[in-house]
Amino acid sequence: MKIILDKVKTIIKKEINEFEKQFVDIIKSNVPLVNQITHYIIHRKGKLIRPIFIFLIAKMLGNVQKKTYHTACLIELIHTATLIHDDVIDNSFLRRGSFSINAIWKNKIAVLIGDYLLSKSLLIATNNNYYDLLKIVCKTIKNMSEGELLQMEKSKKLNITEKIYNQIIYHKTASLIAASCEAGARSVNVDEKTALKMRKFGIFTGIAFQIKDDLFDYDEKKNNFTGKPIGIDLREKKITLPLIYTIQNASEKDQKYILNYIKNYDEKKRCQIINYVKKYGGLEYATKKMIKFRNNALKILEFYPEGTIKETLKIMVNFIVERNQ
Ligand code: IPE
Ligand code: IPE
Ligand code: MG
Ligand code: MG
Repeated sequence: MKIILDKVKTIIKKEINEFEKQFVDIIKSNVPLVNQITHYIIHRKGKLIRPIFIFLIAKMLGNVQKKTYHTACLIELIHTATLIHDDVIDNSFLRRGSFSINAIWKNKIAVLIGDYLLSKSLLIATNNNYYDLLKIVCKTIKNMSEGELLQMEKSKKLNITEKIYNQIIYHKTASLIAASCEAGARSVNVDEKTALKMRKFGIFTGIAFQIKDDLFDYDEKKNNFTGKPIGIDLREKKITLPLIYTIQNASEKDQKYILNYIKNYDEKKRCQIINYVKKYGGLEYATKKMIKFRNNALKILEFYPEGTIKETLKIMVNFIVERNQ
């Protein structure tokens, strides 16, 4: 799986290298503690999915330029900031195979570093007068916060439906991937229709991405290289698509058991909940939905000229649903 991503990165090697250089420069600070933490962050790189989409889309539709690099840095900064905040919210001590920021420096510092990165990202837009980009990202940050809050509300009440789940994952995850695709397109001055098409492509891809991420929580470990804890969704009473489907299709008796297990969750109940999800086909259902969104994303690409870059975009979309990292 890592091989696929490495291959994709070689296609846009020059762009990724330049992006990484700029990213490191941007997050430098004169405050030693900030530098110590950003140093830690830089040495634990993520998959760079969002910058990859930005560069591929920019290349498919035009010529990568200064604004494209700025867009990639801005989006990856928002992503990094939200992951740091997310680990505080989720009480998670593992990220990218290492201790999370909150695990090492505790919540207060993690919240502030997240804010620091978020402001640094917005400064890229204001310093360069990218009003269009600023508009897109402010809306996205608002969406992401609302998604996280809606998710929190639902894990308190345990009354989530598939419709609300879709709303949550659109807001908390797909909106940033959609913003990446739209802004990547806009960075090379495409027309309005194309920018919105790319946004749509990002929404479908992003929804598939989060369904896959949620499926990891039901993995039997072994082939999972996400570098994140498994089973944490259930611990936080986060009911995702496989379980939503299961609860909705379970007999009344099983439904009561499942809800009771979630309410009084401990590690031992995990196995029982997974057995119910298997019994009612929750994993197959979520996989089917994920593939539907993947197909919708691929369909949008049909309108664009054939070539290496489009092929690579298709590889990325397929990677999203097949990945084990
Ligand atoms: C993780 O995103 C957060 C979700 C939206 C599920 P990624 O899987 O893209 O995180 P990194 O950057 O590769 O660690
Ligand atoms: C992901 O939330 C998303 C963000 C918007 C930061 P999750 O809590 O589901 O993601 P992971 O599994 O911790 O990466
Ligand atoms: Mg989390
Ligand atoms: Mg979370």
